[in-house]
Amino acid sequence: MSYRIAVFASGRGSNTQNIIDVFKDTDIDVALIVSNNPDAGVIDIAKSNDIPYVVINKKDLYYSNEFIESLINENFDLIVLAGFLWLIPEKLLNGYKNKIINIHPALLPKYGGKGMYGMKVHEAVKNAGEKYTGISIHFVNEFYDDGDIIFQHKTEIDDADSPDDIADKVHKLEYRFFPEVIEKILRKL
Ligand code: GRF
Repeated sequence: MSYRIAVFASGRGSNTQNIIDVFKDTDIDVALIVSNNPDAGVIDIAKSNDIPYVVINKKDLYYSNEFIESLINENFDLIVLAGFLWLIPEKLLNGYKNKIINIHPALLPKYGGKGMYGMKVHEAVKNAGEKYTGISIHFVNEFYDDGDIIFQHKTEIDDADSPDDIADKVHKLEYRFFPEVIEKILRKL
C-alpha cells in the first residue's frame, strides 16, 4: 500500500519542503503541490523536487468545476494545507470528507480565523502576553481554522521572546509533528 498526498501552500513552503524530506524514499508520496500564488517559494520547491504543481486562481477554485473534478478524480489519500490562505470550497470538502487537514501556528481556538496567519499570529500572541503558544492540526471545514482538532502541542514563551522567536519555536514544532500526524492519519494509527 502506498499513499499519495497533495499539498496546498501559498507561501515560502518550508513545511512543504520538510514534508517532502521526511517522506523521501518512503511509501508516502507528495504527488502534487497546489498554490494560489505564482511567486510563492513553494513553486520553486515543487520545481527543484520534480513534483507536479499547479497554480490556481479564484475562478479555478470557486467558480469552475474542472480543477475540483480533477482533484476528486485523482483520489489523493490526503490533502494537506500547509500555509494555504484561501477557504476550501464545499465541493472539494464533500469530495474529500475527513481527508483535508490544515496546520495552524497557534493553539486554536485562540488566534485563528480570517487574517490570522504568519507573523500576525505570533505578534498577537506576544501582544496578549501569553505564556504558551503552539501548533494545531485540524480537519478543514468551510470556515477558517475551525474544523475538528486532531492534534495540538504547546511550547513555552519566555518574556524576552520576540514574535520572531515565537515563530521559530512554532516552526520547530511544525517540522517535528506535522509529518508525524500526516503519517498517523494515512496509516490510521
Ligand atoms: C506555517 O506557520 C503554518 O502553520 C501556517 O502557515 C505557515 C506556513 O509556513 N499555516 P511555510 O510556508 O511552510 O514556511
